[in-house]
Amino acid sequence: MSKLRLENVNKYYQSGSGTVHALKNVSLEIEQGELLAVMGRSGSGKSTLLKVLGGLTGIDTGCYYYDNKPLTNKERHMSKFRNQHIGFIVQNYALLYDRTVFENVELPLKYAGVRKKLRESRVLEILEQVGLEDYEQRFPHELSGGECQRVAIARAIINNPEVILADEPTGALDEDTEGIILDIFKELNRDGKTIVIVTHDPVLAKKLHRVVYLNRGMIHE
Ligand SMILES: Nc1ncnc2c1ncn2[C@@H]1O[C@H](COP(=O)(O)OP(=O)(O)OP(=O)(O)O)[C@@H](O)[C@H]1O
Ligand SMILES: [Mg+2]
Repeated sequence: MSKLRLENVNKYYQSGSGTVHALKNVSLEIEQGELLAVMGRSGSGKSTLLKVLGGLTGIDTGCYYYDNKPLTNKERHMSKFRNQHIGFIVQNYALLYDRTVFENVELPLKYAGVRKKLRESRVLEILEQVGLEDYEQRFPHELSGGECQRVAIARAIINNPEVILADEPTGALDEDTEGIILDIFKELNRDGKTIVIVTHDPVLAKKLHRVVYLNRGMIHE
């Protein structure tokens, strides 16, 4: 049984200049505990694929199964699915710049209705896990790119999701920092998390279990 399964998925965007066929008959199975890379040119559909897997956007035709159960396009179903199962790391951190590191990481727990005391201990535990234990009162503009990325990872994993989806998490980082981020993902993967990482970096992709490629919306391994 696959953790995530796409069957003949098509995804279109309507825009001013017409229709974009962003995913073309995409079928993909991802097993529990996989650490997978998605590669492909700019505009090939990588972010779209990740958003579909994360229930951030619906599909036009085909099916998406999570733990063998179909996910519908209903917003209520998708948001529940996201909250229960998915940790999503977007392409450019998307941190709240008027909030501290602590508050940024705490936010998903607030949404989930976790009590203050428990939130505090959980945030500190996660910040330690990503190597930011003394940073909780800093603001994002006081951090380096790699540190911002670690805050984004901390925020994505604070609810202990089964699946982590990361869109170019090392895109803007130097090699050493990239290594630190990759180690965090590997440790999460050892803890049993299923992880999908979009990357342009073939060296990074090689260090993962499996690579799938997108070419103009079509997938191949
Ligand atoms: N909201 C949108 N409305 C219309 N077209 C879109 C929208 N989002 C993406 N697209 C188009 O869909 C295609 C796939 O976009 P996507 O963002 O998935 O590419 P990508 O592989 O992530 O690219 P990059 O490497 O530059 O991040 C592109 O042609 C893009 O222009
Ligand atoms: Mg993208």
